[in-house]
Amino acid sequence: MTATVPCTRAFNLLPDVIPLQADLHAAFFECLKRVPAWHMLARAAQEGFLLPGGHVAETTSGTFGLGLAEACRAGGYACTLVSDPALDDGLRHRIESLGATVEVVDRPAPGGNFQQARLARLAEVVVERPGTFVPHQYDNLWNAESYAPVAAHLTERVGPIDWLVAPVGSGGSSHGLSVYLRIVNPGLRVVGVDTHGSVLFGQPEDKRVLRGLGNSVHPANVLHTAFDGVQCLWGRVAYPATRRLHAEHRIFAGPTSGASFRVAEWIATQHLGQTVVAVFPDAGHRYATTIYSPHWIAENGLEVGEAPADPTEATTPLDLDPDWAWLRWGRRTFQEVTGRPWRPEVVR
Ligand SMILES: Cc1ncc(COP(=O)(O)O)c(C=O)c1O
Repeated sequence: MTATVPCTRAFNLLPDVIPLQADLHAAFFECLKRVPAWHMLARAAQEGFLLPGGHVAETTSGTFGLGLAEACRAGGYACTLVSDPALDDGLRHRIESLGATVEVVDRPAPGGNFQQARLARLAEVVVERPGTFVPHQYDNLWNAESYAPVAAHLTERVGPIDWLVAPVGSGGSSHGLSVYLRIVNPGLRVVGVDTHGSVLFGQPEDKRVLRGLGNSVHPANVLHTAFDGVQCLWGRVAYPATRRLHAEHRIFAGPTSGASFRVAEWIATQHLGQTVVAVFPDAGHRYATTIYSPHWIAENGLEVGEAPADPTEATTPLDLDPDWAWLRWGRRTFQEVTGRPWRPEVVR
């Protein structure tokens, strides 16, 4: 008789480092958000903010919720995630099957948006369950800190890195990776990948077609002075690149990885012989019926015309090419570039 061996899969939080062409490497995460989720719970437990068997709550409509639900299940914590209708059923079922509770706010805050409605509900959850730990991925610097082992892993695998291409959402990964990679190579140049309608680099807020990156609020984790350049793409450029990543490199990834890939390819052609690493934040399963579907592409009018081969340089965040733009950021602050303060919503 074969003995039953208790068996559980330990997540590898580090990315697969995959060469795409000479001097261009992918740092491919099945779910990048596992990195801050697991680290923040460990730090909270270490600092006494999270007691054994305690409760974790957060507002999220993306993969940070998945990372938290997994880490809570493994650590024996209860987990409540406050989301909105943008949360797709597939991700919701996956999160709930881990034992987490998902609360979906069904309408925007009066006179406001869904983000505010989610935050209002989260505040109630915290009052209802005293002792709840809220990771606050946007503003908690443990998010950026969590990427130290990732930077060490990338350096070990590819040596000193000349260019890092990273999509920006909360800002945690680009912040942490640029700080830790510059310890090894202070000459590292960092290009942030953003999208149209995101306020992160000075555009006015608008509906974002390409999801997963960009933001409608100002997270404290965005380190503007880390960025040498910012590139802004939308679906017509990012989606074909995502499918090409799958077809040509057998990397089944999400659309923000496609955006990162397209930018990194372009950087590699501009700077031959320099080592480029591109962050690919998630796997493609959530997008199989959308950006991988010819019907969905046609229905959404995304197959029209040829996507541009190069980005168009913009002089300010207010004159971006509608397909693909790039901006010399030059490691400036948000205020230096836009003339406006960062985080105006925060009362100082
Ligand atoms: C799907 C997805 N997950 C995670 C991230 C990570 O971004 P950040 O560390 O800035 O939150 C991104 C960035 O664009 C993303 O597209």
